[in-house]
Amino acid sequence: MAVPKTVLWDRDPHTAAKHNLLRKYLEPWAPILLSRHATITYAEGFSGPGVYSQGEPGSPVVALEAFAKALQHRSGRIRMVLVEGDERRESELRSQLDKAREHHSADVSRRLRVNTHYGECHPTLLEQLRLQGSLGKPLFVLLDSYGGPDIPFSLLQELGKHRSTEVMVTFQPAFLTRFGEANENHRRAGDAAFGGTEWHAVFDQPSNEKFTFLRDQYRESLRRAGFTHTLFFEMVDEGNHVLYLIFGTRHERGLEKMKEAMWSVDRDHGVRYRDPKDSEQQQLALELEPHTGPLRRILLEHIAAAPKGLTVAELKAFTLLETVYKPSQVTKLITDMRDAKAVTTTPRRDGDDQGPGPASRDELSGVLAEPGGRGGGLLD
Ligand SMILES: C[S@@+](CC[C@H](N)C(=O)[O-])C[C@H]1O[C@@H](n2cnc3c(N)ncnc32)[C@H](O)[C@@H]1O
Repeated sequence: MAVPKTVLWDRDPHTAAKHNLLRKYLEPWAPILLSRHATITYAEGFSGPGVYSQGEPGSPVVALEAFAKALQHRSGRIRMVLVEGDERRESELRSQLDKAREHHSADVSRRLRVNTHYGECHPTLLEQLRLQGSLGKPLFVLLDSYGGPDIPFSLLQELGKHRSTEVMVTFQPAFLTRFGEANENHRRAGDAAFGGTEWHAVFDQPSNEKFTFLRDQYRESLRRAGFTHTLFFEMVDEGNHVLYLIFGTRHERGLEKMKEAMWSVDRDHGVRYRDPKDSEQQQLALELEPHTGPLRRILLEHIAAAPKGLTVAELKAFTLLETVYKPSQVTKLITDMRDAKAVTTTPRRDGDDQGPGPASRDELSGVLAEPGGRGGGLLD
């Protein structure tokens, strides 16, 4: 997408899908955290004007509505810290948020503190978060630039120092793969975003692997910044433009909740998810019953690489931590794979805990899991 010059612009399919996902994540996020903490914070570094040209809400308004809903049923306070680098847009954002707050009760408005700031994302965002005492407390940060590279690694590092911070970053790989090699300024911007120069190896990758290479490099950068669990998925619009949404957290629960959000969003026209681990890079429609063909391939490859087999518990953990799928999708898939004789399974032994037994793909690994061989039963 070309970078708009006007205060407002048309909302594209990527953005609609992103907002759905954000809403689906924040709606459970806020009440869960409010049940344990007196104050939680939501922040954006690239907030936008809060509205699109046809009147659709921008991400800060989407978030505000999710929080107002949560505060109707929970005690506690929510702080919103919103930075925008264009003065006209920051002013529009303020009036959109004021308008949105008018629809909520005085009590909800009092406990939903909203601050907008005109300034560069970095360092304004960190300065404001420090001032408000939000660092080190539950904090979700959306860094939704036009795709960059304009999110400094040093900012991610500062945020990642705190266990309770989660981030969601948008990242478009096309700019650096096209212009990073020839233009030194762009290359430096890439270095600042990745926190190093390892990503330069993208220039030596075959053209059909450049995006995935860059994506994996960025994932590594997030890990180095402290976000031990990252969830990557692609959104591909009808024009085949690729946008990565990258979620980083230190908490498995956060990862689980983000996946639930991802799989519960309504179908969005022209937008698909793709799992980075799927060797066939199949695009997935946003459906309530997601197509699990790619997960089947991913699991088979993973099992094939483990000659002694894997327990279903291990496959579930792998699915949670390494793919876009949910652990709850694994059991049925393994049953189907077993019935189709793609894997063999062993029953649980008496006295074992609930951890399920090994699954092996015999034609690849040559190993038939022996009954009772590895504890826990499969498919309890
Ligand atoms: C993709 S838009 C954000 C859209 C918004 N998150 C939403 O979903 O409704 C990016 C915004 O970042 C602003 N921006 C660009 N560079 C910035 C910077 N360095 N610091 C802060 N804001 C910036 C732009 O003016 C634009 O409004």
